[in-house]
Amino acid sequence: MKPLNVAVIGFGVMGKHHANVYAAIPSTRLVAVVDPDQARRTEAKALHAVATYPDLATLLLHQHPEAASLAAPTSLHYPLAEQLLEAGIHVMVEKPVTPEVAQAEHLTKLSRRYGLVLQVGHITRFYRAVQLLSARVNSPYLIEARRLTPNARIKDAGVILDLMIHDIDIVLGLVDSGIREVSVAGHVLNGSPFEDVAAAQIVFSNGCIARFLASRVAPDAERSLVVAEREQTFRLDFSKDPYAEVSIYRPLPDDSGGTHVQVEQVVVHEDNPLRQELEHFLARIRQSAPPIGTLEDDLRSLRLATRLTRQLHEGEPKLLALR
Ligand SMILES: NC(=O)c1ccc[n+]([C@@H]2O[C@H](COP(=O)([O-])OP(=O)(O)OC[C@H]3O[C@@H](n4cnc5c(N)ncnc54)[C@H](O)[C@@H]3O)[C@@H](O)[C@H]2O)c1
Repeated sequence: MKPLNVAVIGFGVMGKHHANVYAAIPSTRLVAVVDPDQARRTEAKALHAVATYPDLATLLLHQHPEAASLAAPTSLHYPLAEQLLEAGIHVMVEKPVTPEVAQAEHLTKLSRRYGLVLQVGHITRFYRAVQLLSARVNSPYLIEARRLTPNARIKDAGVILDLMIHDIDIVLGLVDSGIREVSVAGHVLNGSPFEDVAAAQIVFSNGCIARFLASRVAPDAERSLVVAEREQTFRLDFSKDPYAEVSIYRPLPDDSGGTHVQVEQVVVHEDNPLRQELEHFLARIRQSAPPIGTLEDDLRSLRLATRLTRQLHEGEPKLLALR
């Protein structure tokens, strides 16, 4: 099989991971890295012996990769993804695809018009623990998702678009129903225009309640998900990367006419979800795999995340700026 030429746009924390994965996949050739930061370009050249460029336009003057991972800051996803698609290049763009729904809709149209793969980095779809949930959850009535980190590195998006969107994407994959009510509150703590803490509640038309808490100013990292349905409750702890612990609680009748709770514990070893995600992107380019999560699914998650963000920022004084 002829190797596929791939570029990485943005060689920061995520871009470095993407480049490492491509460099390790025999059927791809990492041919270029773009980053305006000279130190990052020097590092990319040293690590991968690859051509580097300060901007995408210069890359496109010299090379035409077949595919690119876009891991620049979120606020730049739209113009860069548009440039890549207009140049006929398949795009794997980190989440959130864009800050605005209209921008994501435009990129979706472009990818369809040109017959190109546009895949959004909803990496949790490639977590085995999430796949286990999708396979075993039927009709949840309550979901609680907590995603907390002490890391406030991302400065151009709020915590809803940055972190909560992962859980929004998981929950919308589990609950097959429209949305009845949305409420949200949050805090700005770092002096930026974007929220650092957000708490949201979604009530679905079928009655299921989903509660989300996301923070990037927490003292410690925490990533957990509780999904309750009538017959069983799942508790996932993602914080022990590369393992996820899944506990399943089932109330069962006991001999004395009461109930006891049976607990099943499963330790899931995650097999490099980023590699799974990028291999899926490559398989889709080679037309050997249907999408795991469609662009409609991506848009649905972005619509809810931007709705929450808008509601939070319009809803003063619910959004508190603490100094
Ligand atoms: N899927 C996940 O779990 C996950 C995790 C972290 C970040 N992300 C996403 O990845 C993206 C990047 O985040 P990060 O944490 O790597 O940020 P980062 O700040 O570490 O890296 C961004 C890089 O992009 C470069 N850059 C800036 N302007 C550019 C341009 N015009 N062209 C090319 N490169 C440019 C910067 O110099 C920097 O090296 C964000 O959209 C973020 O939401 C996803």
